[in-house]
Amino acid sequence: MEEELIGIKNAALSMILDTQSQKELEEIKLQFLGRSGKLTTAIKDLAKLPKEKRPEIGRIANEVKETIEQAIAEKLNTTKSSTLKAKQEGIDTTAPGIEPKIGHLHPMTLALYEVVDIFKRIGFEAADGPDIETDYYNFEVLNLHKDHPSRDTQMTLYLDTRGSKANPGEIILRTHGSNMQGRIMEKTKPPVRAIYPGKAFRYEQIDASHGFEFWQLEGLAVGENLTMTDLFGTMEYVVKEFFGQDSKVKFVCHNFPFVEPGAEAYMTCTVCKGKGCSFCKHGGWVEILGCGMIHPNVLKRVGFDPEKVSGFAWGMGLSRMVTLRYQMDDLRILTNPDLRILKQF
Ligand code: DAH
Repeated sequence: MEEELIGIKNAALSMILDTQSQKELEEIKLQFLGRSGKLTTAIKDLAKLPKEKRPEIGRIANEVKETIEQAIAEKLNTTKSSTLKAKQEGIDTTAPGIEPKIGHLHPMTLALYEVVDIFKRIGFEAADGPDIETDYYNFEVLNLHKDHPSRDTQMTLYLDTRGSKANPGEIILRTHGSNMQGRIMEKTKPPVRAIYPGKAFRYEQIDASHGFEFWQLEGLAVGENLTMTDLFGTMEYVVKEFFGQDSKVKFVCHNFPFVEPGAEAYMTCTVCKGKGCSFCKHGGWVEILGCGMIHPNVLKRVGFDPEKVSGFAWGMGLSRMVTLRYQMDDLRILTNPDLRILKQF
């Protein structure tokens, strides 16, 4: 009997707690305390108990009754005052609610996660690096000494060093993700397999396929007997996984001071399917990455022996890959905050 009374109390209290309206409270009151309510019926059953047990159980029954009555009274007070407050504020508590808009990841982030995942499947680890960089890691360590002509093509944004310990021209916004090559190799022993996605910055004329701030995904692999074939195979695997198995990639000789030999990879323009459009400058192919075998001078500078180990590195234009993936004919769409664009992903 005692357990039954406690059970009734708990059931009533949890129902009272859950309810929000006065009407429901009235119903709960009837259900437990009404003439044929659960508690009323249990109290009537007291008469069936042996005489000596009645006072004790009777006391418990009274306690339960008081607790339920009090809980109902308190809840009635709070619901009354909140309804009154809502009314005073002009809120119609019976009106249907407005579904909140739930956001989602930006297409750039979605693509980033996907490419990182593809590389992880073949054993690359992801690292992060600084946007503000020293001349040493952005250029010097990469075989781009101070008077190297190709520094001119890097359209560098220099930071004001006045009032700091750094020499003028020493601190810049990184012009490419390659700044991480030196940082990673200095800290790791071969074999190394790393990717490092991030933003790069250039003092660049903006057009449909160039931005002054854009995403790159750089990476490198260093170990014994690595060759150009490993590089081509890795790049082709990733491009096909990301764009589909029927995508075409071609490699063209190219010079970068930090690789020997070097190459650029192109893929068929997804916007015009190779026919030629403003995005691919009417050539039908779009450059998606620069790559090559890490130059022996770079390996030496980070303390590796080029006679014993070799490595390849690449820098992908991630922003460009995203526009190609979604057939956007202008890179600037990626930084456009127009929700009509963003909602499509
Ligand atoms: N840093 C080059 C750029 O931004 C791309 C690149 C070329 C990266 C060759 C590399 C590489 O790691 O080996 O244009």
